[in-house]
Amino acid sequence: MDCLPTASKEDLENDSVKTALEHVKQHESDGKKHPTTVSVKLDDFDRVRLLCAGSFSKVMLVQHKNTKEYYAMKVLNKKRMVQLKFTEHAVNEKQILQAINFPFLVHLECSFKDNSNLYLVLEFVAGGDMYSHLQREEHLSELQAKFYGAQIVLAFDYLHNLDIIHRNISLKHLLIDEKGYLKITDFGFSKYCKGYTWTLCGDPDYLAPEVILNKGYSKAVDWWNLGVLMFEMTAGYPPFFADQPIEIYEKVVSGKVEYPSHFSFDLRDLLSNLIQIETTKRFGNLKNGVNDIKGHKWFATTDWSDIYQKKVEAPFIPKCRGPGDPSNFEEWEEEPLRISSKETFAAEFVDF
Ligand SMILES: Nc1ncnc2c1ncn2[C@@H]1O[C@H](COP(=O)(O)OP(=O)(O)OP(=O)(O)O)[C@@H](O)[C@H]1O
Ligand SMILES: [Mg+2]
Repeated sequence: MDCLPTASKEDLENDSVKTALEHVKQHESDGKKHPTTVSVKLDDFDRVRLLCAGSFSKVMLVQHKNTKEYYAMKVLNKKRMVQLKFTEHAVNEKQILQAINFPFLVHLECSFKDNSNLYLVLEFVAGGDMYSHLQREEHLSELQAKFYGAQIVLAFDYLHNLDIIHRNISLKHLLIDEKGYLKITDFGFSKYCKGYTWTLCGDPDYLAPEVILNKGYSKAVDWWNLGVLMFEMTAGYPPFFADQPIEIYEKVVSGKVEYPSHFSFDLRDLLSNLIQIETTKRFGNLKNGVNDIKGHKWFATTDWSDIYQKKVEAPFIPKCRGPGDPSNFEEWEEEPLRISSKETFAAEFVDF
C-alpha cells in the first residue's frame, strides 16, 4: 500500500508547513533574520536537574515558573561555539527547529539568548533514549526495530521534502516519549541543502562513505544513517566498529558488512540497499525515492498511516512517574550556569 500522503505530501499541503518551508528557504536565499523570543529569559524557569552534559551543550530539565510546564532546555555556550567554529551550526539548529513540525521530531517551544549562552527550550521527552533502552534489552526483535525504523523513515521523508538533511541520528538522539513513540532530537548538524554539501560532521559510527571521502554529499547520507541505526537496533552493536574513528572509516569505505545470523533475509536485503556505498544504488536516493524503502518486503506489514497517527501499540512503554520525571536519564554532576555581566559574541549570533 502506498501511504506516502499520510506524512510528507499531506503535510506539504498544510499551510503552516508551507510557511515553515518558505521561512527556511527565504532565510537561505536572503539571509533574513528569524525572530527570537525576546520576552523569555532564563529567570522564567526553575532548574530541576541536568539531563546531559553533551559535547557541545548542557541539556537540563526545567520547569516554567508560571505555567509549571516542564521542558528540556539545551544551553549552548557562545564562547565554546565560536571556539569550535560552530556558530553556523547553532544558528542552523534554531532555525530548523523553528521551521519543523512533525510527530517524530522534537518540538521547539521557544528560544532566547543572554550575555553568555544560547537557549533552546524543547518539549521534554521523558522516556529516555534508545541507547539506554538497548543497553537493557541487548537487541530489539525485528518487529520492534520495524516500529522505530518506520518512524525514522517518515521523519527523514518529511525533512527531505523540506530540503533539510539531519546528518546526525545516533541512538542517543532517538528519544522515547511517554507513549513509546520516537522523538528525534539534536538538529545541531542539520542543514538546509538542496544539492550537495561538504562539511565533515556527525558521529563516526554513522558517517556515510561519501562524507568520509570528502566527495560532496546529499540527503542520501541520512538513508545510510537509517541503515546503520536499524542494523544497530536489531543486532545490538553497530555494523562498523573499532577503537579509533580512522579504523571505523576504513571499514565503512570498504563497504563490507557482516550480518548476524538471526537477521531475516528481508532485513538483510533492505539493509544492504541502505548501507550501500554507491549512492546511485542506495535506497531512498533512487528515482522512486522513499517508496523503495516503504514498499520493501521487510516493511510489508507496516501500516504507514497508522504509524503516523500513532495508532500502533508501541512495543515498550517507558516508566514515567509524572510529567517532569527525569528518572529515565542518567544523573550528572550539577554545575551552575555562569552568565557574564557583559554581552559576548553579539555579532556572531545576531541570527539566533
Ligand atoms: N527534548 C529533550 N528531552 C529530553 N532529553 C533531551 C532532549 N533533548 C536532548 N536531550 C538529552 O540530552 C542529550 C544531549 O542533547 P543533544 O544531542 O541535543 O546535545 P549535544 O550537545 O549534541 O550532546 P551530545 O554531544 O551528547 O550529542 C540527548 O542525548 C538526550 O539524552
Ligand atoms: Mg548530540
